[in-house]
Amino acid sequence: MLAIIGGSGLTKLSNLDVTYRKATRTPYGEPSGALTFGKIRGRDVIFLARHGYGHTIPPHEVNYRANIWALQQEGVKQVISVASVGGIRADLVPGTLVVPDQILDYTWGRPSTFFDGGGDGPVVHVDFTHPYSEPLRQAILQAARACGEPIVDGGVYAATQGPRLETAAEVRRLERDGADMVGMTGMPEAVLARELELQYATIAVVVNYAAGKGDSADGIPFDQIESALQDTVARARRVLEELVVAL
Ligand code: HPA
Repeated sequence: MLAIIGGSGLTKLSNLDVTYRKATRTPYGEPSGALTFGKIRGRDVIFLARHGYGHTIPPHEVNYRANIWALQQEGVKQVISVASVGGIRADLVPGTLVVPDQILDYTWGRPSTFFDGGGDGPVVHVDFTHPYSEPLRQAILQAARACGEPIVDGGVYAATQGPRLETAAEVRRLERDGADMVGMTGMPEAVLARELELQYATIAVVVNYAAGKGDSADGIPFDQIESALQDTVARARRVLEELVVAL
């Protein structure tokens, strides 16, 4: 079973025929909202809006553990996350879709493991050399090619704490660290999926230049984000539709 976790601009999948919704609880609390079961082009999919269906949960308060746990309980094996980002690398301009291949984690204070001791189980250290599932990344790239949507293969996703945006100096530091894009939700979502042995990959939607870059030299133009978001998320939806059929 495939799950799609939608971020900003993707609280609904217009191409999803909803079968039913299911409110669940987990040992870690409640997910961001009810799981939405449905079909895209005849294929079963579970959809979850990361920030809640009314977009009320900020990035640092998303219950990432409950979200990933709830999906795994429903038999999910593959998770595609859609996440908006600011572009740092010169070619990642607003409107770009990108499938990152690496992560830098600057978040703090978020419950970020299912293996936090307390029980009788052994200490577990998961391998995270390649944080995203390569087969799933390739499937996304292939689906984008199949529907003619340009998409960038690879890039380093920096996860910041939010909810505030970065300072220009912070973005320069991220760049020196090797980051190509910056968002607030990529971690711990990716590592929690890895801990539960789910395949996980991200379609990042560039909605603005990161602080201090391009149009954001003197501030983030929020009005432009909204239009970039709508257009680009619509393209991400087409890729998802193609992907669901291919998987
Ligand atoms: N920074 C952090 N998160 C984001 C940004 C950004 O510029 N744009 C969208 N999500």
